[in-house]
This record gives sequence, structure tokens and C-alpha cells, in this order.
Amino acid sequence: MQTSHIPLAVAYGDGIGPEIMEAVLDILSYTQAPVRIETIELGEKYYQRGYSSGIPKEAWGIIKRTEGLLKSPITTPQGKGYKSLNVTLRRTLGLYANVRPCKSYPFVDTKHPTMDLVIVRENEEDLYAGIEHRQTANVYQCLKLISRSACERIVRYAFEYAVQNNRKKVTCFSKDNIMKMTDGIFHKVYDEIAVEYPSIKSEHYIIDIGTARLATRPEIFDVIVTSNLYGDIISDVAAEISGSVGLAGSANIGPNYAMFEAVHGSAPDIAGQNMANPSGLLHALIMMLVHVGLPQQATTIHNAWLRTMEEGIHTGDIYNAKTSTQKVGTKEFAQAVIKRIGQLPQTLPAVHYEDAPKRAKEAPTTPGITNVCTGPSCAKKLVGIDVFLDWQQGGPADLANMVTPLLKDRLKLQFIDVKGLMVWPGEAPDNVNGDHWRLRFVREGEDKHAATADILQLLNSLHEGGLEFVKTEHLYLFDDELGFTLAQGE
Ligand code: NAI
Repeated sequence: MQTSHIPLAVAYGDGIGPEIMEAVLDILSYTQAPVRIETIELGEKYYQRGYSSGIPKEAWGIIKRTEGLLKSPITTPQGKGYKSLNVTLRRTLGLYANVRPCKSYPFVDTKHPTMDLVIVRENEEDLYAGIEHRQTANVYQCLKLISRSACERIVRYAFEYAVQNNRKKVTCFSKDNIMKMTDGIFHKVYDEIAVEYPSIKSEHYIIDIGTARLATRPEIFDVIVTSNLYGDIISDVAAEISGSVGLAGSANIGPNYAMFEAVHGSAPDIAGQNMANPSGLLHALIMMLVHVGLPQQATTIHNAWLRTMEEGIHTGDIYNAKTSTQKVGTKEFAQAVIKRIGQLPQTLPAVHYEDAPKRAKEAPTTPGITNVCTGPSCAKKLVGIDVFLDWQQGGPADLANMVTPLLKDRLKLQFIDVKGLMVWPGEAPDNVNGDHWRLRFVREGEDKHAATADILQLLNSLHEGGLEFVKTEHLYLFDDELGFTLAQGE
């Protein structure tokens, strides 16, 4: 028997946020769930008060002492200087897995009436680290950071999710035909972990064709695991084709904290008009109740929702002449669900949640960095450096002629490229110009300590020779395997 109330944090958010949150908490209050709600404030008004992250300090304390955060959408101000609050929450709370179920229902107009899939998106890495630089007048850069340990964690989460939720297949989406190292490690780790789950079917798609198939034949997918940016894009595709962006909820899960939200945004176009569909946030609440160990209340709410929907009581976004009987506003929809608490759907299968997904919480608290090296010794050897120059005084041969006399000792100029395409030695492609050049210098010799000294000397020589380096990348071998890619045409 439950003896104490489970503390939950809620944030009413912006736009339609407050009205859908009121509707959802109203429904919750009729289930006698043993929860204690603590409200936090964040979002637009905090941005306007000068909090660039959109969240005041006090809110963190509440989030951290409660068992989960139910968050309405927030409006992210456009323009520089503002950080996305969603990214801040995910990163600060270590919410590494974003779980987004997308299912179609017979009462919602869709071209894909049998789709029922779950996207498991890596939530902390990739281009979303937001590490960007302008290196020259012309060239901007965003760093894509992918770690083997985070790949292991998210891929294992996806397979564990499949096992616990009786799913049959986990599909990996990546672009490792182009990004051989970053997407390559994601795919490699996926292949390694997939063999540990022989009862779950596994397959891989290049993200382009995978997304095309998802948009046209979503019913062929079950669980999809992918990295942060691809996951963000494909989950909107999936939510949209299931019928309405207003239906889907999502969970952001970490080892210590969890956050639940609708997939849609704050919909300022319909805010304050009692028009919004609260179902996405209601599904987020259902996921949260299961997560905190209240599967019975989650079951009750979900079945009452199904019953309401199959009776044709619909908000405007999904109202249609074929299956709707009544067009209702946000509040009236919530009242209709409350009226059906305790009832089961008549034509759709009823749902039944068990406490199982809690196992997902048992994932390692920090991504382990074991197994990162492939060989026995994990030998890391510095063998050279890529130097990026901001330079506009000629072509590739001129640059090579300028650099070669500056070289001493063991570092040799191997090639020059422009955005990955080799332009020296050999025939330079037509119209090579620009202000951003990469020069690869490789080193002969075994002495590890002298390698760094050679590189420092090289950079000094380039500087004294009047060349402006804007970025460098060390070139390593890991157990004699290349820790860098070759240039196109090398
Ligand atoms: P949006 O999802 O807010 O709206 C897109 C369209 O879907 C609009 O026509 C809207 O009326 C409709 N819609 C969305 N939710 C609905 C619901 N529950 N019921 C009925 N119709 C619904 O996307 P948009 O316009 O791109 O973004 C608006 C704001 O929301 C932006 O500031 C954006 O940054 C923010 N946003 C916040 C998110 C979050 O807090 N997790 C996620 C996505 C966007």
C-alpha cells in the first residue's frame, strides 16, 4: 500500500501550455493518484526578465527533489543570446534518452492507420552541444561530438525498451556512409549491442532513405534508435503523419531525473482560446505515472482517453466528418475524459501498464568508458596535425610554396584541402578560392614526447611566416587504427 505521496514537479509553460496543463492536472486529480504537485515557473517570462537560460535558480531545487517533471511547451525567443531551455534541461539533468511513441488511431484522419512506432533519440550529444565558431570571414563551424559511451547507453536503452515493451524490432538510423567516424561509431556500437538481443530483430537504414520510408511506410518500423539531430527531425515527421502533432507525448529519461512533455510547441496561434488538444501532454503524464511507479493510474487515464476518443469527442485539430460526433474545447475534452474514468474503450483494445519500464532507470549513472579502445593496449599515438588557415593570397600551389620552406624536422606537408576536398598536391580543381584551408602535416618518428614539441615548433613557424591558423586538430592513431578521416581525393 502506498504510504506517502510521490512529489512531482509541473511547469505550466507558455502559449497553450497553461490551458493544457490545467486540463491534464484536472484529469489526474480524479484518479486519486498519491502524488504531491510542486509548481515551478520557467520559460518566456524568465527570458524577458533577463535569464538567458529561461529558468530561475529556485526551479532546479524543486526539479531535483521531485521524481519527475511534467513540462508544458515553452516559447523559445528567436535570436542570439538565448539558450534553448529544453536543451539546458536535458543536459543539466542528464536526460540522455528521448522516447517518443507515435501511434495512429482509427478515429484520427491519417494515411497510415496502422503505424505504431517509438523513436529513441540520443538527447545530449551531437550538434546540439551548440559549440559553434566563425573561423574566417566566410566560414562557420558547428562541432558534432559523438562518444562511444553515449552510443552504447542509448542503443542499450532502445533494446531494453523493446524487450520491456514487447517490441519486436530495433532499427538504427545513421549517415555513416558520409560521417564515417561519428555516425560510424553509432552504427558500430549498434551492431555490437544488437547481437546481445537475439530475440529482437535488428536493421540499419541510412537516414535519408530511412526518413523517406518512415514518411511513406511507417508501419514497417517498431523502435527506431538514432542520434540527436536525426531523432529530432524524424520524430516530428512521425508525429505529423500519425494524424496530429497534438497527440504525442515524450519522455526524457536519465539515471537520476526524468522530464515528460508533449512533442508539440506552445502554439501561440491558438493560445488562450480553449482550442488546444491536451492529449499530447496527457500522454506525457501517462508515461510519467508509469515511470514513477503508478501504472494503475496511468492505465485508468489512458483507457478513459481512448473511450472519449472512440466516442468521437474531439478537439478541433482532429475533428472530422467521418469519426467525430462532437467538437469540443480543451476544458470540455478534459471533462469528457473525467466522466469516463473507470471505463474501458469498447472498440479499441484497452491498455494495461505494468511497473516494468522502471528497469530503464537502472542504466549506468555515467556512461562507462570501458571498451573504448579496440585493442589490448589502447595505445594512442600522436602522428601529426591538421592546421586550418585563414588565407586569401593565392591558390593551393602558392600556399604550399609558402609553407614548405618553413618546415623543419619531422613534420611534412601531406596535403592541402578546402572543406574536405584535396587541392594539393596534384591537379587543383577549377576555381579553388576561399579563405579556409586545411593543411595536414604528418610526422615520422616514434618519440611520443617530441611529437608535441614538433607541433608547437610548426605552429610557431607558421605564425612567424605570416600565416594565421584559426584551428588545429591533432592526428592520432588508436592501436594503429586511424583516428581521423582521409581527404576526398587523397
Ligand atoms: P507548434 O507545435 O507550437 O505549432 C505548430 C502547429 O500545430 C500550429 O498550427 C499549432 O496551432 C498546432 N498545434 C500545436 N500543438 C497543438 C495542440 N496541442 N492542439 C492543437 N493544435 C496544436 O510549433 P511552432 O509554431 O513551430 O512553435 C511555437 C513555439 O513553440 C516556438 O517558440 C518554439 O520554439 C516552441 N516549441 C517548444 C517546444 C517545447 O517546449 N518542447 C517544442 C517545439 C516548439
